[in-house]
Amino acid sequence: MRAQISERTLRTDRWWLSPLLTVAGLGLISVYAAIRTFMNDYYWVGEYHYLTPMYSPCLSAECVPAASHFGQPLPELPGFLTPPIFIIPFLLGFRITCYYYRKAYYRAAWMSPPACAVAEPHKTYTGETKAPLIAQNLHRYFFYAASILLLINIYDAIAAFSGEKGFGIGLGNIILLVNVGLLAAYTLSCHSCRHIMGGKLKHFSKHPVRYWMWQRISTLNGKHMQLAWSSLIFVCLTDLYIALVASGVIGDLRFVN
Ligand code: FES
Repeated sequence: MRAQISERTLRTDRWWLSPLLTVAGLGLISVYAAIRTFMNDYYWVGEYHYLTPMYSPCLSAECVPAASHFGQPLPELPGFLTPPIFIIPFLLGFRITCYYYRKAYYRAAWMSPPACAVAEPHKTYTGETKAPLIAQNLHRYFFYAASILLLINIYDAIAAFSGEKGFGIGLGNIILLVNVGLLAAYTLSCHSCRHIMGGKLKHFSKHPVRYWMWQRISTLNGKHMQLAWSSLIFVCLTDLYIALVASGVIGDLRFVN
């Protein structure tokens, strides 16, 4: 039941600031991701074997062969079907159906409602019980897909320690490691992951390992919003660094070899 008052809200604080920053941040990142997706270049640094997570796995015949760590099962495809097009539906699906991002864009973009105690413009409310929002329930399956992609990113980050001249460590290696660390923390802090680990158990005492992991995941889960933003921003920064090195705009800062 909505309050029967003529004002949209009685709040006098800057309740609009948070949704505004959210929509600006998500919009900026979406534009960057779209530009990089269709650029189809500067995703691989051959000398140091750095592969940006946005192009991993690189599965089509147009990929630089050395960047295709898992082969090239897909043929060369028309221009707009760049390698990230096959990854993005899973990563986007994972983020879009994420419990935190739902809150963020329901407020910031959908204004449903934009903030606590601020009326929304919509007349009716059906929640997530009807199409298209019922698809939010697919989150667990996107979690599985994103977990596989995370394992691939971890493989890429480890493989990057072996460049053209053999073992080496550069700033790119550190960035790739921090990136997979943040992605792993975000993925493990997922509400679905927490439920998979500890949900439906009647007696924690009979499942000490699952209980122990559920406790760790629950701690991470408390930081899910922070991990959602930091991992998303850092993926873009990782991609930007690799694009700048790959295009020759900057050189990689080397510590070993
Ligand atoms: Fe956010 Fe699963 S709830 S990733």
